[in-house]
Amino acid sequence: MNRRLLMPFFVLLVLSNLLISAETVKCLSCHESITPGIVEQWKKSRHAEEGISCYVCHGAKDDDPSGFQHYGVRVTSVVSPLYCSTCHEKEYVEFQRSKHAWTAFIGPLYPYYKKAKDMGLDPMSQETARSLNPMEMARRTVSPLFPDSGLLKKLGFLDDPDYAHGNVVIGCMECHGSFVVVDENGKLEGWPNTGVGRVNPDGSLGSCSSCHTRHEFSKAQARKPETCGQCHLGPDHPQMEIYEESKHGNIYASSGEEWNWDAPSREFGTDDVLAPTCAVCHMSGFNNAVNVTHDVGERLYWELQPKLSVPQWKGPEEVDVVLERIPDVEKAREGRKKMMQVCNQCHVSSWTEAYFEEFDKIVNDYNMIWKYTDSLLQQAYSEGLVSREYPLDEVAEVMHYLIWHHDGRRWRMGAAMMGPDWAHWNGAIDTIMIKLNLMIDSIDTKRKLTELENK
Ligand code: HEC
Ligand code: HEC
Ligand code: HEC
Ligand code: HEC
Ligand code: HEC
Ligand code: HEC
Ligand code: HEC
Ligand code: HEC
Repeated sequence: MNRRLLMPFFVLLVLSNLLISAETVKCLSCHESITPGIVEQWKKSRHAEEGISCYVCHGAKDDDPSGFQHYGVRVTSVVSPLYCSTCHEKEYVEFQRSKHAWTAFIGPLYPYYKKAKDMGLDPMSQETARSLNPMEMARRTVSPLFPDSGLLKKLGFLDDPDYAHGNVVIGCMECHGSFVVVDENGKLEGWPNTGVGRVNPDGSLGSCSSCHTRHEFSKAQARKPETCGQCHLGPDHPQMEIYEESKHGNIYASSGEEWNWDAPSREFGTDDVLAPTCAVCHMSGFNNAVNVTHDVGERLYWELQPKLSVPQWKGPEEVDVVLERIPDVEKAREGRKKMMQVCNQCHVSSWTEAYFEEFDKIVNDYNMIWKYTDSLLQQAYSEGLVSREYPLDEVAEVMHYLIWHHDGRRWRMGAAMMGPDWAHWNGAIDTIMIKLNLMIDSIDTKRKLTELENK
């Protein structure tokens, strides 16, 4: 847009000063030319319509260490979920109790979190982070969480200061979230980052812009599968690929452009979309059949991502979710009921029930194969055929890992979300025919070699 077109808008804003504060008028006067993209996106948002402008969100709270003086006012660049909570309390509370909010600590920042807790320190605090350096710990720790670390250590790379191990930053943390630390000069470390479990300087967790990108903050965007697919894809959690393969994804691809993505949450349902998206099954109220939720765990029965599938773990409102894994069958059953309510808006209950019956059988099949796999490795360790010295540096260990972390997840998740190719060829077949076979073979070969050496 050229400047002449912008002027009337600007004058309008000044005139409607009832809505826009004097501070924001100043922000716009510079940012319309410095970062026109940001101002344009904001103008298109519901927030601009409602007069929620730059300073309302960016005006730094007194106790937020990320605040800095900026042309006479104190602002922050890290508008955390806590800032949004002044107007969106419900979404904030639900999000904070979801695994999304905690996933930086559950994932790449786990070694830091555990160490802080063991030392009796508050893992959320800026002081703890400055002393323990969570980002550096993620780069240098040997752990099965960083599956390349065992081999990197053995070969000497992990202790070589020139080898940055940068894939844990522009890898894990882009999805899971970083720890944003304000250094002595007020500079932000671990930023920019919009990982869904980002740890913010004000002590809150997560980033709403993982799904509602700034500055449109649109719910239409968040309802589309591509938003979730940004993180939910790839060899270890291919929910996006599974969705694309499913009948539901197929219908979305053929007619989704015409659907009504903007319907208010209370009204959103079968009038608006012909097939479910990720958000419809996991979050939307959908015909008001269930409560709209920002806790994406609320409608699940299983934990399908760990080694052994178990009913949903207790959440952060009850336990320390990072360190404690306590299955809660009641909660899981409630979750299943809610999910089925969504299906039943478009399918008869016998269709839905029959589908879940088959799905649960697959989870059980996988669990049986997993227990066998794990017993093989434990036996190999006890016979000294595989060394415990480094994690994931020997073929048997790598196969054991791939069986649960890659192929076995694809098998279970393909079954959960109507992706037959993922359940079968990329799932069960890769798990059993390739990985399990290679694992058995490598252990047997070791055993024979050891026998020969001993003779
Ligand atoms: C006098 C001009 C001016 C005014 C007034 C102004 N800004 Fe800025 N702002 C800038 C410039 C210049 C930058 C740096 C741009 C760059 O580095 O590309 C900036 C950067 C920023 C940043 C990013 C800082 C960082 O490095 O992380 C934020 C956030 C910001 N402005 C918000 C605001 C808000 C909110 C207001 C109103 C309260 C405002 N600005 C008013 C000129 C201004
Ligand atoms: C609804 C709240 C909200 C409003 C209103 C808002 N912002 Fe932001 N802004 C955010 C969030 C959230 C981020 C993402 C920062 C982060 O990583 O936490 C952000 C990021 C930024 C950044 C740094 C991002 C970058 O890509 O460089 C600048 C600069 C900025 N905003 C300026 C503005 C200006 C100027 C306005 C007014 C036109 C504005 N914001 C209105 C919430 C808001
Ligand atoms: C000062 C109050 C206020 C703040 C702060 C605020 N919002 Fe909003 N937000 C609103 C209002 C008012 C609406 C419009 C309500 C409606 O549509 O019913 C809205 C609407 C939205 C919507 C729905 C947009 C759509 O497409 O209909 C989203 C998403 C959203 N806000 C996210 C955020 C995020 C994320 C933040 C923090 C970065 C934030 N808001 C900060 C008041 C606020
Ligand atoms: C492309 C985005 C992405 C990247 C990169 C990524 N993850 Fe994940 N991670 C996910 C998603 C999505 C899940 C959820 C899987 C599920 O529940 O199906 C997940 C799950 C996990 C879990 C299991 C959490 C639980 O509740 O049991 C851990 C631990 C984890 N990731 C750690 C890491 C680490 C460490 C890295 C880097 C070495 C990493 N992830 C890289 C997206 C990513
Ligand atoms: C995992 C993705 C995701 C994240 C992260 C997320 N949202 Fe949402 N949000 C959605 C989806 C999807 C919808 C639309 C739900 C529906 O279909 O009604 C939505 C809707 C909303 C709405 C509109 C509600 C209404 O009744 O119109 C607001 C406001 C909102 N989100 C605020 C937030 C805030 C604040 C945060 C951070 C605390 C946040 N969201 C984080 C996905 C997300
Ligand atoms: C038709 C409804 C439906 C759609 C569409 C859907 N899901 Fe699911 N999803 C499910 C069901 C059912 C489960 C298994 C629930 C259970 O455990 O009982 C599930 C499980 C999951 C899990 C949990 C896996 C775990 O580790 O336990 C994730 C993550 C997930 N879905 C993400 C997505 C994403 C991302 C999309 C879109 C790309 C999506 N889902 C689309 C119904 C759906
Ligand atoms: C920025 C990355 C990112 C985006 C975007 C994202 N997720 Fe996730 N999601 C994750 C990660 C990482 C996890 C793993 C959480 C854990 O177990 O620690 C996860 C976990 C989940 C789970 C499992 C929750 C549980 O309690 O086991 C579901 C379901 C899910 N996401 C659905 C969605 C949906 C639906 C969307 C889009 C509306 C979405 N996600 C968008 C990164 C993301
Ligand atoms: C918004 C409506 C809607 C919702 C919600 C919905 N579906 Fe569907 N589903 C459809 C449509 C439409 C088809 C295509 C039917 C056909 O083939 O004619 C379909 C197809 C299917 C299929 C057949 C797949 C195939 O490959 O033939 C299964 C299985 C299924 N859905 C299960 C579920 C389950 C389980 C849920 C809930 C977790 C669910 N659906 C939620 C609309 C929906």
